[in-house]
Amino acid sequence: MRVDMHWLGWINLCLFIFMASCSGSGDGESPPLLGPDHPGYKNPICTQCHELPVSGHAANLPPQCARCHGANGACDPNGQNSPRQHVSGDQCLACHANHHGFENRDDCVACHFAASGLDDSCEIQ
Ligand code: HEC
Ligand code: HEC
Ligand code: HEC
Ligand code: HEC
Repeated sequence: MRVDMHWLGWINLCLFIFMASCSGSGDGESPPLLGPDHPGYKNPICTQCHELPVSGHAANLPPQCARCHGANGACDPNGQNSPRQHVSGDQCLACHANHHGFENRDDCVACHFAASGLDDSCEIQ
């Protein structure tokens, strides 16, 4: 029982930190989720148009934006009918080295397996 209470306390603390940081761009507004009306939709290189960090923000790397603004239309490779079904644990760089110039697997996963704002499938070219 004491162990359960201990974990509940941690979960509450984590929720508090999560909510505080996700409304933490200054005025407590909720972050806009990027959809097809965003002029940079499906473009992973935020810095082509935005100077980072955007005013009021601490985040200054594109993969960090997905947590609050969604995936900006990055495709979900698990949704595509391809010879390979991806899982989020795959070592992306082994097969897609430095895709769009990102160098860490965690960056790939932050956008391509984001919790929201994903396109359900990739177009096979
Ligand atoms: C091709 C240019 C372009 C690219 C690339 C781009 N954006 Fe944008 N974005 C814009 C423009 C233009 C606006 C509207 C004017 C503004 O708020 O600066 C905008 C607006 C936004 C907004 C505010 C949306 C709203 O509804 O208020 C967010 C958040 C955003 N961009 C995030 C991103 C992120 C994250 C990336 C990279 C994953 C990105 N943008 C890439 C051009 C771009
Ligand atoms: C911790 C959550 C969080 C993260 C991470 C985050 N944002 Fe935001 N962003 C917000 C919130 C909340 C707003 C709306 C309130 C506001 O405008 O200050 C916002 C608004 C914006 C806007 C429109 C307002 C403006 O000042 O032009 C842009 C553009 C934007 N974010 C870009 C980005 C980019 C690019 C990244 C990644 C480098 C990013 N954000 C990461 C929470 C976040
Ligand atoms: C073992 C090799 C391998 C690994 C590891 C791998 N991929 Fe792939 N990926 C492929 C192949 C093969 C395809 C399908 C053919 C193609 O589009 O190149 C593909 C397709 C994709 C596509 C769609 C491409 C398109 O044009 O439609 C995305 C996005 C993608 N992978 C992202 C990832 C991410 C993110 C990871 C890490 C979580 C990852 N991949 C790990 C081999 C791999
Ligand atoms: C900031 C978000 C973001 C990050 C980080 C990111 N991607 Fe993407 N990725 C996208 C978007 C957006 C597209 C374009 C989706 C579309 O056109 O349907 C894309 C497209 C792709 C494609 C399809 C081919 C292409 O270029 O259009 C592959 C493969 C891919 N990404 C793999 C990766 C890998 C591997 C990593 C890590 C090294 C990675 N991505 C990091 C957002 C991201």
